[in-house]
Amino acid sequence: MIRPILKMGEPSLLLASASVEHFDTPELHALLIDLEETMQAANGAGIAAPQIGVNLQVVIFGSDRTNPRYPDAPVVPKTVLINPVITPLDDKAEEAWEGCLSVPGMRGSVVRSLRIHYAGFDQFGTPIEREAEGFHARVVQHECDHLWGILYPMRIRDMSKFGFTSVLFPELDDNADD
Ligand code: NI
Repeated sequence: MIRPILKMGEPSLLLASASVEHFDTPELHALLIDLEETMQAANGAGIAAPQIGVNLQVVIFGSDRTNPRYPDAPVVPKTVLINPVITPLDDKAEEAWEGCLSVPGMRGSVVRSLRIHYAGFDQFGTPIEREAEGFHARVVQHECDHLWGILYPMRIRDMSKFGFTSVLFPELDDNADD
């Protein structure tokens, strides 16, 4: 079921989410179906459970295809990530534009770790462990931030690099529902 996406200003987006304790349950599978359908409908690069009002440590991201909201970004593998732990692999950082389904119509430039190791579980409790860099690493860091109650505007260092997508990137075709 496509669920309403909570927008910045909603207090529950600022809460730390609880870890998932039971895997492969009907409730967890239903949550993942809702996340997937909601992300697809909004052309999201990822979505976190708190964005649909569920404060559990569950994110999904990736699409195995190019995302129309980020046409120049590399394809990120479709992933379910639960109870994630992110570790930067070194001190290198990269600044790039981000958007968020909870901050519609806007983009901001955010510094993120360039290379990370991330670990967690899928919906069946199978461990996931990967290294990622660039856009893939950025998506993981952005989505997991939602689980700690952090929205990307809270990470913008230079507020002159925060604005409306329609002004910053008029060539993007999705400005209506971004
Ligand atoms: Ni977001």
